[in-house]
Amino acid sequence: MTERPAPPSRPGARPGGFGIADLPRIVRGRGSHLYDVDGKCYVDGSGGPAVFSVGHAHPEVNAAIQRQLEDIAYGYRYLFTSSALEELTAMLLELCGPGYSDVVFTGSGSEAVESALKIALQHFYCRGLPGKRRFIARERSWHGNTLGALSVSGFAERRRAFEGSLLDVAFVSAANAYRPPAGIAASDLAAHCAAELDAQIEALGSDSVAAFVFEPIVGAAGGVVPAPPGYARAIEAVCRRHDVLLIADEVMCGSGRSGCFRALEHDGVRADLMTIAKGLAGGYIPLAATLCTPAVAAPIFAEAGAFQTGHTFTGHTLACAAGLAVQQLIAREQLVERVRVTGARWLSELRAALARYDEVGDVRGRGFFLGVEFVADRATQRPFARERGLSLDIGRRAFDAGLICYPCAGNVDGTNGDTVILAPPYNASDADLEEILSKFTRAVGAALEPR
Ligand SMILES: Cc1ncc(COP(=O)(O)O)c(C=O)c1O
Repeated sequence: MTERPAPPSRPGARPGGFGIADLPRIVRGRGSHLYDVDGKCYVDGSGGPAVFSVGHAHPEVNAAIQRQLEDIAYGYRYLFTSSALEELTAMLLELCGPGYSDVVFTGSGSEAVESALKIALQHFYCRGLPGKRRFIARERSWHGNTLGALSVSGFAERRRAFEGSLLDVAFVSAANAYRPPAGIAASDLAAHCAAELDAQIEALGSDSVAAFVFEPIVGAAGGVVPAPPGYARAIEAVCRRHDVLLIADEVMCGSGRSGCFRALEHDGVRADLMTIAKGLAGGYIPLAATLCTPAVAAPIFAEAGAFQTGHTFTGHTLACAAGLAVQQLIAREQLVERVRVTGARWLSELRAALARYDEVGDVRGRGFFLGVEFVADRATQRPFARERGLSLDIGRRAFDAGLICYPCAGNVDGTNGDTVILAPPYNASDADLEEILSKFTRAVGAALEPR
């Protein structure tokens, strides 16, 4: 007889503990700490999926939001511009360095990716190349939950229920030095991946491919996987050769999290289109953006006059005011610099703290964007059985002990694989970082050596 799940204990509860009534109720945040209704304190080791760039309830950001709210919350984009919108646009273009000319604001990373895909399609349509419709993306990637963004995501678990209704996207290998394709040495990975992309474009026909989409540092789908040296330059060259646009999805890794405002700065590459989101307004108000170069925008403006993308709340005034306050704070306190310097030290400390566990296969990342991959066998890199749920186990033990980290499963083949991401606020103090590290190490120990 099949066992029936126990009925939910409270309205909103769900079997498995995933309903809202099963979660603690958040009431307050201060800096790198959050407090629930019972007074329990949590340190923000990744308070959401790498969202909180300047911590919680920062008085300066709150004051800027309050000021904007007292003036006006929102002016509709087809009727008005605003100081917040204009100043944030100018600041982002400066932070990105020369080369980008236009910014489309949206409310989520998925919408930003959706806009990047649509701008790429509109670009070729306006150039009289309407056959360039196809996208190429990578396995082990995540670009969002809308149908377009999901279509370019190489994440089997999250796609399964929607297969059949997704865009026909071609996928190439992930560029993961810890898990290169069979028979490829890590040192040959960049060249191998570039050749694979080149072959894929040739197979589809250059005249049918619009863009290649990738995360410069893979987030949830890989557990923080920076591209190997030379990779970004090599794929950029392939894209240029075939007149294929390069879209860098920096929703998670961008906005300073990796120690540069653009994650691709590390690689000396500028994508034709770039998306940013999470750290941009740091969770104070939902805000995302798609940036593009003049070469991408020019044919669109010449032929159509405007980008055919965006939503009712595109360029929302209050969200832009929040984003501006967050970015001004980051700039004034030189927090991206702090992330770069302190992040390198913190990575070494994390590696040292976890060295005694054979199950820690790889500790990697840049800035305040670190990932730990767990393996059942270090020599073969065999993952733990999915049923073990190791990353979730570590995440739960950490949460119980007052640390929020970001466990991810499925990095090996879309189903198996355990990684945990640490992504604290850029202004987390040294003491906060120490607290995160020691609580994390204890949670790992407890999960691996249960008594
Ligand atoms: C790289 C990347 N792109 C896009 C998205 C989608 O962003 P959102 O969840 O805000 O729609 C995410 C979300 O985690 C992401 O990590």
